[in-house]
Amino acid sequence: MNKVVVIGAQWGDEGKGRIVDLLAERADLVARFNGGHNAGHTLVVNGQTWKLALLPCGLLRGKKGVIGNGVVVDPQALLAEIDRVAAQGLAVTPDTLAIADNATLLLPSHVALDAAQEALRAQPVGTTGRGIGPAFEDRAGRRAIRLAELADPAMLRLRLAEALAYHNALLTAQGYPAFDLEAVLAGLLELAPRLLPFIQPAWQLLNEADEAGRRILFEGAQAMLLDVEHGTYPFVTSSGTGPAQAASGTGLGGAARGQVLGVCKAYATRVGEGPFPTELLGAAGDALRQRGGEYGTNTGRPRRCGWLDAALLRKSVRVGGITQLALTKLDVLDGMEELRICTGYRVDGAPRADYPAAMAERGRVEPVYETLPGWRESTRGARSLDALPEAARAYIRRIEQLAGAPVALISTSAERDDVIQLRDPWAER
Ligand code: IMP
Repeated sequence: MNKVVVIGAQWGDEGKGRIVDLLAERADLVARFNGGHNAGHTLVVNGQTWKLALLPCGLLRGKKGVIGNGVVVDPQALLAEIDRVAAQGLAVTPDTLAIADNATLLLPSHVALDAAQEALRAQPVGTTGRGIGPAFEDRAGRRAIRLAELADPAMLRLRLAEALAYHNALLTAQGYPAFDLEAVLAGLLELAPRLLPFIQPAWQLLNEADEAGRRILFEGAQAMLLDVEHGTYPFVTSSGTGPAQAASGTGLGGAARGQVLGVCKAYATRVGEGPFPTELLGAAGDALRQRGGEYGTNTGRPRRCGWLDAALLRKSVRVGGITQLALTKLDVLDGMEELRICTGYRVDGAPRADYPAAMAERGRVEPVYETLPGWRESTRGARSLDALPEAARAYIRRIEQLAGAPVALISTSAERDDVIQLRDPWAER
């Protein structure tokens, strides 16, 4: 197996970064394929904390990074991130990072539109406010500027004028100030010389690497339940988050035939608005948030916390073609008397296996729980299954049964090497 796709199996923040980091050790290339700098990946390496948003985590393992065409790129955010990691000792150069020439440019006006759209919504999505949605809308609307245009100031001006005409019409109608073409253009032209050396047909690079049998790791951002089509719409992000997106968002069609590792927290969290059937409100939710340190990497927003929803996890496994699971933050559950897992729902008292698509019905959903015994012992830092208490092993077995996929990896602390490895995603078909 020379291709592994890592995706989130819940609502994001499952700890994909550290799983990618682990697998990247034996990869040759690591490619991002969706989202933008709404993603936040925190990694702890030898006590040093790294926070990445656009840069593929594999760069920390010295692997070649690729930002695929499925990513929306805010040039200022990207260069600031490159400078930030450089100050921490990691040099990102055109030798170590390739950015797709057909990736979409995220403009300052997209950020303004993100806020303007949220203000208009009867039910705000609770976006990260980074302009991600409006940038993807422009791509679908054929107004987007692709990174390749940064090389040609005249074409850039033409494309920018078209995009800003549209953005300004929307913004001024809502009473927001318009963006000045010359000012935005000057900003882009100032950044272009630093960005251009990274920009290339990344799809070719990836296909050639694949044909040469090199190992490619696809690093998903967000997660299946935030997928624009299969997630808890409309409280989702605006890009695809599954392996099909890994293929289309890099131009390596065979990506979707790789191993698909779904990362899942041992409980559940969500940032922003939207359905969360197993959410714990009040003191119980606060306690889980404290124990798990559940605050957003990028935005610092407190995350909503709750029990594992195995019914939605099973949906992620099926929709995302997940072949193996990675379970993270098991240690956060240490010391809890009992644990609950949601196995399905009731709507108006009638049993229902799947979470409804219709929004009105969702308001009437009640989760159905199964209760399992907790464990008193610490699982923190465990590196073998034998080191776990039997109740923890039983919890993991039950997740496998309900989700319909085997657990390959279990992480037991924020440290890079505190992992129980049961299967090797690179070794299996
Ligand atoms: P957007 O992607 O900024 O448009 O936000 C849409 C929804 O996705 C919001 O509920 C965000 O909180 C959520 N979201 C976006 N990126 C992430 C992420 O990396 N982790 C967790 N949630 C995210």
